[in-house]
Amino acid sequence: MHNELLRVRGLAKSFDSGTEQVPVLSGIALTLGRGESLALMGRSGSGKSTLLNLLCGLEQPDAGVISVCGDTFDDRQPGAPDAHARSWADLRRRRIGVVFQDANLMPALSLLDNVRLRASLAGQSQADCPAWLDRLGIGELADRYPDQVSGGQRQRAALAMVFAIKPVLILADEPTGSLDRHTADEVADELFRLRSDSGCALVLATHDTELAARCDQRLDLAHTAPA
Ligand SMILES: Nc1ncnc2c1ncn2[C@@H]1O[C@H](COP(=O)(O)OP(=O)(O)O)[C@@H](O)[C@H]1O
Ligand SMILES: [Mg+2]
Repeated sequence: MHNELLRVRGLAKSFDSGTEQVPVLSGIALTLGRGESLALMGRSGSGKSTLLNLLCGLEQPDAGVISVCGDTFDDRQPGAPDAHARSWADLRRRRIGVVFQDANLMPALSLLDNVRLRASLAGQSQADCPAWLDRLGIGELADRYPDQVSGGQRQRAALAMVFAIKPVLILADEPTGSLDRHTADEVADELFRLRSDSGCALVLATHDTELAARCDQRLDLAHTAPA
């Protein structure tokens, strides 16, 4: 299907605790179209961050297949694992935007230089980076360093970094988890507005039921988690 952006089937992951393999995810299946959003829910430890890491290739699944924009990433395919890792890294750098709970900014760079760096890593023009900060309401803070602005402003800068790469997919791990209710709502508003404007898909892990209710789909990992 042309509109299908993300397709996951039979995804499983366990971690080695030192004495045994502890299953975290099994039989995960999801399909997300362009412009659609999915909330990953579930108690702490249910595997939300692990699933996001699998989706952007930071972790390798034990089983299962992940397709992004029709490109399938499957470790069991013939071909060197290096090629697999390279293609994931390339996709992540160019087209997948990741937002964490605490904005992942470089402390030694101004907000604007953080956005410029992310854009250039993705092969995008730096010319519209100031406009992204303006659009997120922090244009006048462009020359400040991350430790000179509030948590909400850092999170807005993190969104500007993500949108500067013109992503097809945004993965957000509790993006509002460290913000107060009012600031969290404002940051979420921006995330959904930019998502609607650009037509990219959004997967977000959240404990926030209000935020989850705004998404098109919800997947509760507590209900899929292995016993
Ligand atoms: N790199 C790792 N090594 C070992 N165990 C891990 C690792 N990453 C996550 N886990 C375990 O996997 C489970 C799910 O973790 P996580 O995905 O962070 O959950 P959530 O984001 O829903 O709180 C937890 O029990 C955690 O301890
Ligand atoms: Mg987590």
